Amino acid sequence: MRPLAICEVTAEAAPFAKTGGLGDAVAGLTRMLGAAEQDVRLFLPLYPAIWRQGHDLVPVDFLRDVTIWLGTRELRFSAYTTPLPASDVAVYFLHCPALFHQDGIYTAGWDEHYRFAFLSVAALTCCQRMGWAPDILHVHDWHAALTPLYARTLFAWDRLFAATRSVLTLHNLGHHGVFGGHTIGELGLEPYRGLLPPEDLAADQLSFLKNGIRHADLLTTVSETYAREILTPEGGFGLDGLLRERAASLVGIVNGIDYGDWDPRHDPHLPHHYGATDLAGKARMKRALLERVGMEAGDEVPVVGMVSRLVEQKGIDLCFESLPAQLGRHDFRLVVLGSGEARYEAFFHALQATFPGRVWFYRGYHEPLAHWIEAGADIFLMPSRYEPCGLNQLYSLRYGTPPVVRRTGGLADTVEPYSWEAGTGTGFVFADYTAAGLAWALDYALTTFAHPEAWRGLQRRGMALDFSWERQGRAYLELFRNLAGGA
Ligand code: ADP
Ligand code: GLC
Repeated sequence: MRPLAICEVTAEAAPFAKTGGLGDAVAGLTRMLGAAEQDVRLFLPLYPAIWRQGHDLVPVDFLRDVTIWLGTRELRFSAYTTPLPASDVAVYFLHCPALFHQDGIYTAGWDEHYRFAFLSVAALTCCQRMGWAPDILHVHDWHAALTPLYARTLFAWDRLFAATRSVLTLHNLGHHGVFGGHTIGELGLEPYRGLLPPEDLAADQLSFLKNGIRHADLLTTVSETYAREILTPEGGFGLDGLLRERAASLVGIVNGIDYGDWDPRHDPHLPHHYGATDLAGKARMKRALLERVGMEAGDEVPVVGMVSRLVEQKGIDLCFESLPAQLGRHDFRLVVLGSGEARYEAFFHALQATFPGRVWFYRGYHEPLAHWIEAGADIFLMPSRYEPCGLNQLYSLRYGTPPVVRRTGGLADTVEPYSWEAGTGTGFVFADYTAAGLAWALDYALTTFAHPEAWRGLQRRGMALDFSWERQGRAYLELFRNLAGGA
């Protein structure tokens, strides 16, 4: 079988650009496809912060000062390349200072539609200049969702793309990328109004994601349960009707994780290492974490950890009622890392002030600290309202830190409910999105922690699971092969 030519188009790829799991997932899958000898190339905007990361970015000769048009706007870009770390895959950074001059991956600025439409058009233009015909155009979330439409319209004349099939992966249906109707013309889509959703035209708007869902040959999402949930009005964010029309082309594949980056046996961020058969290093990590955050507690006092974007999706509202009550009832420590909406940040600041020495909150984004919390905590808290896949619970399983999760999306697919009676399961799962549900699960976790033998069993079962990309990525490869017609 010849290798497939796979073009990945994305707003995030770790370690270059990441705000959450999207960056990890895209990098992990791409690395796996490269290791499986596929001809995969990844296209990403060159955000200013990437210059400062110290990568060896090499200019691509034939991609220097390339002109493209978005509507009547002329834009110029040049491409730089460097391999994805721990792989041979070439990452192409699209450098367009006119659009990417301020800090941040997402800006919510007036030209946000230009920034990400540019990503699509520039990636396709690079394929042309390379004379490279992708079998699979794999695009992620709303940011890259216009690529299939552009391939069918602006680029339709080019035989290079004649056999190209497109796949849109939905990492999070909560963000659609909706802009005013004036952007249709600005993005060069005026001649193709007939291909745009009539209800959007009537509402004078352009939805990147909706167009991706309509025009991609295949849709995937990042867990099996989420693939079912998004077909319902509760989980569909208004797109469930459209998704039901495309249900035959929608596949759920649980994300993998990169054990190169996330394994307590060799995690470079950690001073102490450990594995399932020797947990002494975990006890040392717990002490190190407590010391780092200035807390005192014996080994018998459980540490609950949380690493999260502080947004509604993550179920922080449930914590408002549950956590103060639980802190009143049980002796445990809570270590939280996250940033996001002001009301959630204020809640954790207030909780820290109310329970000094027992609650510690770091507001911000801190990669090493995320690893420390996964390793040093005893219990990981993730009470999401909805969760397309979730990577943190997968990390926590591997780090011997059983998660407390709600039964939704990928959390339902990856965490097996613990049963004290049967001695089975890997975490604590509650079904209803209520404070009482969370309180029940946290209670169950805290009381089980007091039984070391039961706890060790729980940890070991979770640590033995394999969610590697080597395993999960095979489903993508098979899907791509079928779509490309057994190339
Ligand atoms: P989502 O993509 O919805 O944020 P995931 O669980 O899939 O949720 O992925 C979250 C990723 O982002 C994990 O790698 C996690 O460690 C990381 N992360 C989230 N918030 C922070 C933070 N404040 N500091 C460091 N890493 C964070
Ligand atoms: C999104 C989702 C998260 C998922 C990640 C990677 O950010 O919120 O659940 O794990 O994408 O697919």
